[in-house]
Order: sequence, then structure tokens, then C-alpha cells
Amino acid sequence: MGVSFDKADGSLWLNFDVQPKADATSDADRADKLKDPGFGRVFTDHMAIVRYSAGKGWHSARVESRANFPLDPATAVLHYAQEIFEGLKAYRREDGGVNLFRPDANARRFRNSADRMAMAPVPEAVFIEAVEQLVQIDRAWIPGGEGSLYIRPFMIANEVFLGVKPSSEYIFAVIASPVGSYFKGGPAPVSIWVSENYTRAAVGGTGAVKCGGNYAASLRAQAEAIERGCDQVVFLDPNEHRNVEELGGMNVFFVFEDGSLSTPPLGTILPGITRDSIIALAREAGKTVREEAYSIDQWRADAASGKLKEAFACGTAAVISPIGKVCSAKGDFTINGGAAGDVAMGLRKKLVDIQYGRAADTHNWIKKVL
Ligand code: PLP
Ligand code: COI
Repeated sequence: MGVSFDKADGSLWLNFDVQPKADATSDADRADKLKDPGFGRVFTDHMAIVRYSAGKGWHSARVESRANFPLDPATAVLHYAQEIFEGLKAYRREDGGVNLFRPDANARRFRNSADRMAMAPVPEAVFIEAVEQLVQIDRAWIPGGEGSLYIRPFMIANEVFLGVKPSSEYIFAVIASPVGSYFKGGPAPVSIWVSENYTRAAVGGTGAVKCGGNYAASLRAQAEAIERGCDQVVFLDPNEHRNVEELGGMNVFFVFEDGSLSTPPLGTILPGITRDSIIALAREAGKTVREEAYSIDQWRADAASGKLKEAFACGTAAVISPIGKVCSAKGDFTINGGAAGDVAMGLRKKLVDIQYGRAADTHNWIKKVL
């Protein structure tokens, strides 16, 4: 049973009861699964799990064999989607150690998501400890080279009750999946479909937090993108369907001929940790970065005039992926002749070099786990 106590600074701490899986995957089977993992279909042997009950708080912290959750058919999350999640990665360094990238930022965003969804906040120290415990026990699953271990913390409302109200019970869990590239073809330029009928988030809604419902609501538009032969959907603002917001699972940046960059402002979009890191890296390199609205019409006009040099998508799963082509009901256009641009690829290299420990971590973004 996980033991909880308060640390000297008042933050809640939980001791995880670690129960290694008895019949863990063999080295040969794991090596086979790590050959070409793709994204999100291969999973490690363990999970971290912590439970919450009103009156008792967070308790029963465990690291155990990855297994099904038994859920009563009336469990709240199955009906009213009170669910949040996070995404971060562990990277294998050349010296054999392991880096996490900005786990504190994910822990903070998870707390904000919990707040918006009226869920019990997971103490940031507990979030990070759960992630570290899982990475340690499943470290053999971290691919070498440019692969990484995608870590998925999530929380579900676990009360068995059909009334519409915040649940009095939650399960916080962390699972992990060794991954290669999110897009087939790695950082090759992607094509995106402009969704003019569906919006992702409204002012006052849940666009700025990472709840499963946002993704459920995006799937119809994403399916439309695939039907049009595109990789991803890009959403416009909910009021006028004019300004670019973000992709289904990524933020977006624009690069102009004067060397400056712009990205849509925060509000109804997810405050991406990659977005924030790119802003810092670009400014550090002397570039101007504006957080300002940019309309789809301006995007089309700037691509045609040559004022816009590059566009790219970014996120934990996608890293930095150049956007080569934009398709919409009003016609298609290409960016940079459909090729990956130097600014996108330069920023990508800077970012991944820090993540893999090949470049100095001057921002204190890296947490060494091993
Ligand atoms: N926007 C959406 C909708 C996302 O799902 C993601 C991915 O998590 C991002 C942006 C990028 O966020 P981050 O860089 O923190 O992964
Ligand atoms: C991420 O990049 O972590 C995401 O959540 C994107 C997608 C896999 C949902």
C-alpha cells in the first residue's frame, strides 16, 4: 500500500509500492517490438496508478503490471467524459542515461486541466514521481537512436453514479509507449486540411486544457482531412472561422521572409510545451517571435507572394513537422515548394539535441532520471 505523508514544504508525497511484473517481456520479444514501433501501439510492461477518494485524498500509489481496469458500466467517465491526459517523452542519452523534457510543465498543465474539469488535482510532485518510477522500471523499453518513450499520464472519474456532477473518486495512471515518428515518413513535410465547418474550441470552453473530449470532438474534422488526402486538420477560430488556431494535436508556427516567426496567441488553444520551448529557442537565436492572430486568407496570400517562407507544426508527439501543403474548400496552396524549410529543421535540431542531451541545457528543461 502506498504510504502518503506531507513533505516539509507542505506538498503531498506518496511512496509508490513497486511490484515488478512476474513474466515481463523477454529481451528478444522486446527487441522485436522496438524495431519499428510507429506511434502508440506498443506498450511497456508496467503502469503507475494512484487512487483518489473524497475524504481520503490520494492513496494506494503503485507501480504494477500493466493491466485492464475493471470498470462498472455506470462509472462516471464512461458517460460524461470527465477525463484529462498529458504527453511527454523520455529520451535515451548517448551515455546510456535517460532524460525527461520539462516534466514540471506537464505536471502544471495537468493540474490546470484538472481544475477546468472539476477534478481532484494531482500534486505536481506525485505526477513527476509516478512518471519517474515508470521510466525507471521500464527503462529497457526506451528505444535508442531517434526513438523515444512516449509517456501518457491520465486521470479518469471513477465514481459509480449517473448524476451529472464532479466525481468523488478518480484514478490517476501513467502508461508508456516506445515510439518512432508520429507521421509516417518522419520529419518529411505534412499536408493539412483547413476545417471550415467544425471548430475545436469556444471561448470559455476547454480548448486550453488537455481533456479527451476535445479530441473526440476533433475526430470528424480529422476524418475529413484524411478523406481529402491530408495528414492533419487545422482549426480556425470559433467566432469568425478566420484565424488559424491549431492542428488536431499540434500547435502551428509561421516563418516570414524577414526572418521573424509568428504563432497564434493562447486562449482557446492548448498551451503547448513544445510551442513555449520553440519561442524561447527562436528568441535566443535573435529572431522576433510574435504571438498574434493570423488569418487563413493572409496565409494563402503570403504563401503566394513569397512573404511566407515556411510553416510548421509542433508538439511532443510530432516534434517539429514542416507543413508543405494546405488544402481547403477554397483551393490548395504549397509552402516553400512543398519542401522542409531551414528554419523549421534548424529549430528541430536545436530542440532534439537538448532533449537527447547532445546540447547544453541552458534553460533547465532536462530532468535526468538515470
Ligand atoms: N495542441 C494540441 C491540440 C495537442 O494535442 C498538442 C499535443 O500535446 C499540442 C498542441 C502540443 O503540445 P505539447 O507541445 O505540450 O505536446
Ligand atoms: C502529444 O503530442 O502529446 C499529443 O497529445 C498529440 C496527440 C498524440 C494527441
